[in-house]
Amino acid sequence: MRTFSVTTTEEPFYVPTEPTQDTRSGIKLLAVPSVDAVAKLAAEALLQACLETPRRPLGLATGRTMAPVYAALATLVQERPPEEQAILRQHWCSFNLDEYVGLGPQSPGSFASEMRQLLCHPLGIHPDRVHLPDGLAADPAKEAHRYGEAMALAGGVGLQLLGLGLNGHVGFNEPPCGPDSRTRCVDLCASTRQANRSAFGDDPGRVPSRAITVGLANILQADRILLVVTGAAKAPVLRRLMHSPPCENLPASWLHRHPSVRLLADAMALDPPDSDGLSF
Ligand code: GLP
Repeated sequence: MRTFSVTTTEEPFYVPTEPTQDTRSGIKLLAVPSVDAVAKLAAEALLQACLETPRRPLGLATGRTMAPVYAALATLVQERPPEEQAILRQHWCSFNLDEYVGLGPQSPGSFASEMRQLLCHPLGIHPDRVHLPDGLAADPAKEAHRYGEAMALAGGVGLQLLGLGLNGHVGFNEPPCGPDSRTRCVDLCASTRQANRSAFGDDPGRVPSRAITVGLANILQADRILLVVTGAAKAPVLRRLMHSPPCENLPASWLHRHPSVRLLADAMALDPPDSDGLSF
């Protein structure tokens, strides 16, 4: 194993991970000191992807990790010339990773309401351009299929933004999960409902038990992936990710097989106060 200290660097540095020595993981880690610095870099990557031509849909994520990212994006966009802002609004096309079954845009705690609050309102983007699975669909399995087709019809995702669940999920691809999983309806783990309770009055029992998620196979089809991990609570799962060979018990570990994954992590996730320097 090798150890590294957390530094601010312009250039991402390659982190060799034991299990992938032979296969050369596509994950490149950029370690930055603070959540604000992570958010700014992630927002810059998103804005750059939005302005690229030919335009490709963005893949977006929700969760506490992403709130500062969208706030930083709003600030960046407001600094751009008005004509550029207009182009951005006019051509915006994004697909979120997941939504709870049973919740719609008007439901507190839904990812649709979160996206309206964090992205649509501050950036002036019409909600029709910010796609999410319809959690209120009468047939969630059919809706999952429709959503997967809609993503493909839109040309597939260029840049995919990802958070990391405490149990190693990406989107709502709960363990165990293989790399061939498609966009589908899933049951949520008790630990995930516990982790996401803050949006539901701190009561895990009120967190929906099912969700529609973009599958790992679809996530791995994105041209580029930006994985954002912040906070000391994520340190154990991040460490597992960097050491684990691709395996079903840690769904995020399939990202090692993608050729272009940038991991943006803050000092707390890489070197939490109670560790004496994590050994990577
Ligand atoms: C949630 C979502 C993911 C998110 C992840 C991390 O449950 N399904 O899309 O990226 O788990 O969430 P957080 O940033 O709140 O820790």
